[in-house]
Amino acid sequence: MRVRKKHWANPLLNAHPEIVIHNPQERVGQWCSNLSLRNLHVEIGGGKGDYWIEMARKFPEDCWVTVEKDSSVAAFALRKMLESPQPNMFLINGDAKDLNLWFDHQEIDVIHLNFSDPWPKKAHHKRRLTHQSFLQNYQKLLKNDGEIQMKTDNMDLFEFSCQIFSQNNWICMDISVDYRRNSHPEDAISEYEQRFIDLKQPIYRCVWRKRNESK
Ligand SMILES: C[S@@+](CC[C@H](N)C(=O)[O-])C[C@H]1O[C@@H](n2cnc3c(N)ncnc32)[C@H](O)[C@@H]1O
Repeated sequence: MRVRKKHWANPLLNAHPEIVIHNPQERVGQWCSNLSLRNLHVEIGGGKGDYWIEMARKFPEDCWVTVEKDSSVAAFALRKMLESPQPNMFLINGDAKDLNLWFDHQEIDVIHLNFSDPWPKKAHHKRRLTHQSFLQNYQKLLKNDGEIQMKTDNMDLFEFSCQIFSQNNWICMDISVDYRRNSHPEDAISEYEQRFIDLKQPIYRCVWRKRNESK
């Protein structure tokens, strides 16, 4: 998601340290514990926040962290979230390549990847959020039986990702090539997802479970 740089973005992000966690490395292992929240969900590349906000409302007993590298986009998410803030929501304005600095080994229950940038050129595939290098981190940070839930409109990215998961011995829990054909009130619609629904394009979705480390 590209937006013009907003002059108000950094001041707004800095004004809310209770939500925008500027030193996420200080929270390692403690994301849920302070508030007695149940499961830890981390959305990577959260964009303008629709999914994060809606899911945190649907599941208030869980902790919802969104990671967005673009500060202007992150500020849009924060601004929307501040209309009805909830204590179970946190935002990291940073790059997911640093995920392993912010979360403990086996701390995360679910990682959400919604409409990640497809990076169509082969030379750029290593930037895909389901590239092997990211997957290795996810593997470490997810709990045993932890899951990755991925949605996309992009068949090439979907195939690439499913291949990587399967080659790395992850367990496929669910797969759909037209997810919104049926109603899924338990799962929020992201901004990008709504665009593709409006265009009547199918939504691809898969859920992959990490194989337990002790087995
Ligand atoms: C295509 S948008 C999708 C936004 C949102 N998830 C949705 O479904 O509407 C992808 C977003 O991921 C962010 N992003 C891409 N790579 C990232 C990374 N390595 N770490 C954090 N955010 C990233 C981009 O800045 C962009 O806002």
